[in-house]
Amino acid sequence: MSLAAGSPASDFAWLAEAAESVLRENDMGDWTRASHDLYPHQWSWDTGFIAIGLAHLDVERSARELTSLFDHQWTTGKVPHIVFNPDAPPGSYFPGAEHWSSAGKFPDAPPAPPYTSALCQPPIHAVAARHVWEVAVRKNKVGIALEFLRGMYPKLLSWHRYLLTYRDPEESGLVTIYHPWESGTDNSPRWDDVMQSIVVGEMPEYVRRDLQHVPDSEERPTGFEYDRYIWLVESIKRARCDEQRLYDNHPFLVKDVLASAILIAANEALMEISELVSAPEAERAEIGAWAERGRRGLRSRWDEDLGLTLDLDLRSGEALRASTIAGFSELIAGRVERARQLRLVETLFSERFAGGRLLRWPLPPSASPVENGFRPRSYWRGPTWPMIHWLLWWSLRRAGETRPAAALRHAALTQLSEEGLAEYFEPFTGEPLGSLRQSWTAAVALDWLAANDPP
Ligand code: SER
Repeated sequence: MSLAAGSPASDFAWLAEAAESVLRENDMGDWTRASHDLYPHQWSWDTGFIAIGLAHLDVERSARELTSLFDHQWTTGKVPHIVFNPDAPPGSYFPGAEHWSSAGKFPDAPPAPPYTSALCQPPIHAVAARHVWEVAVRKNKVGIALEFLRGMYPKLLSWHRYLLTYRDPEESGLVTIYHPWESGTDNSPRWDDVMQSIVVGEMPEYVRRDLQHVPDSEERPTGFEYDRYIWLVESIKRARCDEQRLYDNHPFLVKDVLASAILIAANEALMEISELVSAPEAERAEIGAWAERGRRGLRSRWDEDLGLTLDLDLRSGEALRASTIAGFSELIAGRVERARQLRLVETLFSERFAGGRLLRWPLPPSASPVENGFRPRSYWRGPTWPMIHWLLWWSLRRAGETRPAAALRHAALTQLSEEGLAEYFEPFTGEPLGSLRQSWTAAVALDWLAANDPP
């Protein structure tokens, strides 16, 4: 790949090779497993980030990364959070296809293998599809990319429509989730209050597989959390994934501001795609209205004291007060009002997040160290996550905050070049944690290396 002139990328040149090798090792033909040990299947939002990085290596292959995921879309428009690899070693991941078992039997799910989970994840895909298009234009591959967009557009439209109807019957503009796994930030302190209130009922015994791959249990969610994760899966299976029944009875019903923000950004991307494929005017108007509704919804979740945007527990009606990277959702959604933007950028680089004096690099931890639930080695309770840094960098650039964006990218690349392409990192020591060769980390590294930030 060629590195852009004027960027500090040359200092990190070897990273391109390392990142390419991680993606090659995890390449399964038309899709990429999230990692070779811990996650041997195709994950939904991983796929989006992976396509963003892969575009720099091979436009056609990165397009296939997205189309292969959407081949398993449910009839409702839902894009499943995992497509299970039938060739993965038996018992390598839990809960796998055999645990969801009824996955192929849910009325709206694809009826034949490969089976999928019944959950979904933040909808980064339209952002990724537009990115594939942009890279393709630079590589003179307009014809291929247009054909790809024509195929993707109706699928993306139906995915977004699913989220704005089934997952937002209130028309609030905010996406409802049924499980912390749907947020992608599983054990974040965002969900602590709700998880504490969940009473686990009778369910079959289960064996965790993640701890076979990551023997230090401190890096993964606790047994208390896993019991509730599996209980929530049980509740979804018992409801046969009927969304009305879940709305009526399911114990985890939350408006997720990060997923909602990503959906707004994705609707902006979908609007551009709709123009490129000459979609009907009525559809474009619908997409524009979705983005506006989303922005209104997100603004309503602002918390002046914390200076962050907060999730909402629909069961209790209470805001979920936690200082985490999800608080920057308005920045991620884009087109944020000027004063709010300044406040968010200030908070992001303050002592509470990327400005902490004890941090190894100036990168925002997934939960603020001031947060009660903060644990520096535990998954989404504090470690830094490169794809979150990518999302914030991309959002800052889009908002015209070029200097903070460049600083974030430089710190993120320094982290990866010193500690490798791990899933997440301890924020004070920089120790790499979780899976040590994670596909989406490799992918965002490739995109950073190809970017052209001002020095
Ligand atoms: N992130 C979850 C896991 O670790 C599932 O999506 O297994």
